[in-house]
Amino acid sequence: MANNTKGRRDFMGMALGGFTALGGIGALYAMKRTWDPLPSVKAAGFTTIDLKDVQDNVLVTEKWRGKPIFVLKQSKEMVAKAQNEIGKNGKKSINRLIKIGDNYYMVAVGLCTHLGCIPGYNPEKEDFLCACHGGMYDATANVTKAPPPRGLDIPPFKIDGTKLVLGEAGPEYKKMLADGTTLAV
Ligand code: FES
Repeated sequence: MANNTKGRRDFMGMALGGFTALGGIGALYAMKRTWDPLPSVKAAGFTTIDLKDVQDNVLVTEKWRGKPIFVLKQSKEMVAKAQNEIGKNGKKSINRLIKIGDNYYMVAVGLCTHLGCIPGYNPEKEDFLCACHGGMYDATANVTKAPPPRGLDIPPFKIDGTKLVLGEAGPEYKKMLADGTTLAV
């Protein structure tokens, strides 16, 4: 009887352990999907991302030089909204978007410009909230609520067809740097 009870307890322990291990694998798999969702090539400080399969208003996260990079393709409505938006820093939201063909993309380092937390995106509200101190950004990653002093920083990029090469400063990026749309990362 005592042996039976012990046997059942061992079995329960093993079953629970199994569930935990499976849960862990599931979590790792989910993380991998979130962190590597696009066809991309990484080499010596450069990350090349192919944007052709990105969906409107679906945030994807890449990695460049160890930093999270947000990519958010804007729907037509989002572009129209960005035309009229001005951030807390007086900067126009539309100027932050990268135009490739007929499409507009927000591309930014996913670290809050206040103290470096990773903001979360809400696709229904089309905004980012930084849970650390309540800072907010619109869908172009322009700052809409303090304490962040500015929008999310834009990494150096070069447009190459439907691809974006992060780590190389093309003319569109140089213009953003020169007019103060972003600081150098
Ligand atoms: S770190 Fe984001 S609001 Fe403070």
